[in-house]
Amino acid sequence: MSDTLKQKALFIGYGHLAKSLTSRKLLSLLNIHAINSKNEIKNINLKKKISNNNCTYEYVFLLTRPKTFLSTGTQFQKYISKDTIIISCMAGIKFSTIEQILKTKKIIRIMPNVMASNNKSQTHLYVKNKKLISNYLINLLSSFGKVINVKNEDQINFATSVYGSGPAFIAYIVSSFLKASKKLAKPFNINEVEVLELFKNVLEINTTSKMLDSFISSISSKKGTTQAGVNFLKSQKMEKIIYTTLYKAYKRAKEIDSEQKRAKTE
Ligand SMILES: NC(=O)c1ccc[n+]([C@@H]2O[C@H](COP(=O)([O-])OP(=O)(O)OC[C@H]3O[C@@H](n4cnc5c(N)ncnc54)[C@H](OP(=O)(O)O)[C@@H]3O)[C@@H](O)[C@H]2O)c1
Repeated sequence: MSDTLKQKALFIGYGHLAKSLTSRKLLSLLNIHAINSKNEIKNINLKKKISNNNCTYEYVFLLTRPKTFLSTGTQFQKYISKDTIIISCMAGIKFSTIEQILKTKKIIRIMPNVMASNNKSQTHLYVKNKKLISNYLINLLSSFGKVINVKNEDQINFATSVYGSGPAFIAYIVSSFLKASKKLAKPFNINEVEVLELFKNVLEINTTSKMLDSFISSISSKKGTTQAGVNFLKSQKMEKIIYTTLYKAYKRAKEIDSEQKRAKTE
């Protein structure tokens, strides 16, 4: 798309998530400016600083930490015109709070993840006014990966836990398996790539929880090696540990919004 046909977007915050959203595909669809904590504005397409910013933006992406938005969000009103669509990527901050701080109703909440850099984000989207969703916008969001519409705002908190924070939980589990395999393999050298391949192979042939359960049964012969390990995992309440991990992230997402209000009354 030629530069003149591209719409303009401002990224407020240009940290980990913002950088992973900025793929070549997105840059081919949007002219992006980004602002950081020092109020410096950069043209991301041209990779250069801007000194005078008189732009109006079709889209403003909220990509600061929630705490920053709650404490200093009103200063972002100056970047918003009556036609600007706000796309909040922040965990926990409710639609009603964004509306109150930015004085606009043109808000969309999305929950992407850092896998957007490989076009692999499963981005959850919540919007009250469906008229805000154009084909152009869907095209933009599809540059992150898959787009999943949700009907209830609380589903964004669920998505924050499972899809936003989830990649880190999965990485922690896989990394623990790798470290434990290495420890057991000592003094032999173990090839990490082979162990990682094992994860991929198991998932390649088992695509549902039912398949995974019968896969476990098919390997676990009575009094065998697999049963010894699986029984230990069950005795440690592995499923409960994972449920609690996800629940803590979900609960945290629900708490975030009320923090500024609580701080003000204390
Ligand atoms: N990381 C993830 O995997 C992920 C996934 C889903 C959703 N999210 C959400 O995405 C948001 C950003 O997360 P992140 O991990 O990218 O955070 P981050 O790496 O800490 O980035 C935050 C950015 O905000 C900027 N910033 C701070 N104060 C500012 C201000 N007053 N004005 C303008 N910019 C300001 C920082 O600028 P400096 O560079 O100058 O410090 C930094 O670029 C959070 O709300 C989080 O809930 C993150």
